[in-house]
Amino acid sequence: MPVATKKLRSNRAWLERHLTDRWVKLAQKDGYRARSAYKLIQINEKERIFKPGISVVDLGSAPGSWSQVARRLLSRKDGSLEGRIVAMDILPMDPVDGVDFLQGDFREQDVCDRLAEIVGSAKVDVVMSDMAPNLSGIAASDQARSMLLCELALEFAQDHLKPSGWFIAKAFQGSGYSQFVEAVHRSFTRVQILKPEASRDTSSEQYIVAKGLKPRR
Ligand SMILES: C[S@@+](CC[C@H](N)C(=O)[O-])C[C@H]1O[C@@H](n2cnc3c(N)ncnc32)[C@H](O)[C@@H]1O
Repeated sequence: MPVATKKLRSNRAWLERHLTDRWVKLAQKDGYRARSAYKLIQINEKERIFKPGISVVDLGSAPGSWSQVARRLLSRKDGSLEGRIVAMDILPMDPVDGVDFLQGDFREQDVCDRLAEIVGSAKVDVVMSDMAPNLSGIAASDQARSMLLCELALEFAQDHLKPSGWFIAKAFQGSGYSQFVEAVHRSFTRVQILKPEASRDTSSEQYIVAKGLKPRR
């Protein structure tokens, strides 16, 4: 089959799946920018991570549904924000009320430094990463790029989390995955691997949810 026809078929299949997807419909109804909102909601239903007053860093935040979820969970009764949310993405993101946003490539040192500056010296309660590279179609290179983002997110968490803080990271099963999970185990006292209901069965994505940052040796 010619490559163009194959691509067209797969785009059509994606569109059909998207239009009938229960989480897409729910996101439209609830005002979330992406179905991925429900992955974070389901992780939080299990772990009760978010509450007003905490500080959150959202890595790979665009289009913004995780920031929207965090914003809602950090709200006082009158809807005002109690706590802090700093989000970043390589892509632009429409503002989410009260959320500080930095656009930049997380792989670049000066972007990480700028993010660290915005976050400030106070340690944070949650570092969450839903980062995923733009797929090139070359599986081995996509996997390597995705694992690099996971490792950088872990490094950021090690530098900026409170000892009692939470680290949430999306990782795809494949080359480098088990080494990453082992690295998270070395850094945190409690590590779980969650597959929220809203995560497609056909996707190899898993969410590594860790708590209790161990002191660095
Ligand atoms: C699955 S989307 C995140 C969805 C988001 N959590 C939400 O709920 O709206 C993955 C994001 O990772 C971002 N990303 C990929 N590579 C990145 C990089 N090098 N630096 C920063 N963000 C990156 C992409 O631009 C994309 O917006």
